[in-house]
Amino acid sequence: MQKMIVKNIGMLATPEGKTARRGPEQGQIRVLKNAYVEIEDGLVTKIGTDAPDEGGGQVIDAGGKLVTPGLVDAHTHLIFGGWRQNELGLKLHGATYLDILAMGGGILSTVNATRAASEEELTEKAREALDEMLSLGVTTVEAKSGYGLDMDNELKQLRTIRRLSETHPVDLVPTFLGAHAVPKEYKEDREGYIRLLREELIPAVAEEKLAEFCDVFCETGVFSAQESQTILEAGKRYGLIPKIHADEIDPIGGSQLTEAVGAVSAEHLIVCPPEGIAAMAKAGTVACLLPATSFYLGSTFAPARAMIEKGVAVAMASDFNPGSCPSLNLQFVMNLGCLRYRLTPEEVLTAVTLNGAAAIRRADRLGSLEVGKQGDLVIWNAEDLNYICYRMGSNLVNTVIKKGQKII
Ligand code: NIG
Ligand code: FE
Repeated sequence: MQKMIVKNIGMLATPEGKTARRGPEQGQIRVLKNAYVEIEDGLVTKIGTDAPDEGGGQVIDAGGKLVTPGLVDAHTHLIFGGWRQNELGLKLHGATYLDILAMGGGILSTVNATRAASEEELTEKAREALDEMLSLGVTTVEAKSGYGLDMDNELKQLRTIRRLSETHPVDLVPTFLGAHAVPKEYKEDREGYIRLLREELIPAVAEEKLAEFCDVFCETGVFSAQESQTILEAGKRYGLIPKIHADEIDPIGGSQLTEAVGAVSAEHLIVCPPEGIAAMAKAGTVACLLPATSFYLGSTFAPARAMIEKGVAVAMASDFNPGSCPSLNLQFVMNLGCLRYRLTPEEVLTAVTLNGAAAIRRADRLGSLEVGKQGDLVIWNAEDLNYICYRMGSNLVNTVIKKGQKII
């Protein structure tokens, strides 16, 4: 039996519950002063004020600082070859994200680099990113495929995720995103690629149990709403839970699809129309918002306040990828959540913990500090929650505890 007690916590801030928090509940969190958390065999066993004197096990003194649950990054494109710094010049000369993709760059250039990389190379590269995420307070990461776009390379990406999840302290959650773009060899035969996805790739991913979710990039020039629906329905037949990249650049119906397919989350939603918000509220879909991508693309920001007001649970994630968001810093995302979405620090905390966990179907065991949940927490160099939402550009992590082990 392994026991740890984190004591002398100046402020413990955590959402509560085993499901996403929506509407006014998103901002209602539990705050305890002078608190302690006891973790046994990786799970939280006690939380209270004024720690008991003895009891054995490892004692961590939080020094009066802020403690929150470990952060959950519910949307990343973690596994990719190369980078795309060459696109910066194109952007500065006015090329848009979709212009670069239409020229065969963007996602398609990362597909070339990812196909050329071995599983070992992809693993080592992603391991460095995961180390950095952990150092920034992230203890769970969703990771998508989507830069292989053929049988061998999609499976290679997903096997890389599996391998990392067996060896890295961060928990990884795999998503199949074979519908990230139409690969160049199917440029004249998009129907053929969709058939390949439905009839070969999805069954192979399910057979090897390499993913829990199926995602599609529903966007102008990528997959239409109707194509996205067919792909997600095929995924469902093989047990893959639907997610949708929707309304990132053009509102072509992705967010409205959430209700029809029963999507666990919809991602981006930068230009989400009111009908999309209504569909998500009805379906109980989590809106997984990615403000660092809006920042990087220089676009507008998702209507987060309207979503909360209409009863949609809002999560926030990094979208870490080599094109539209080369940042994995969830602390920056928290800043943007306050400054650009106008969420309160309490709503922001819920967005990057419990609601993030709900977006990847982990809210029953992650995303809050409560008895029975996993012992994942961060001690911050901060005295309260406002401070970590207010400071910008510094890493405010002091200590990271994962499943009751001190990792950082
Ligand atoms: O979520 N939008 C689609 N996919 C990623 C970008 C991937 C890339 O540009 O390589 C995103 O922003
Ligand atoms: Fe994405």
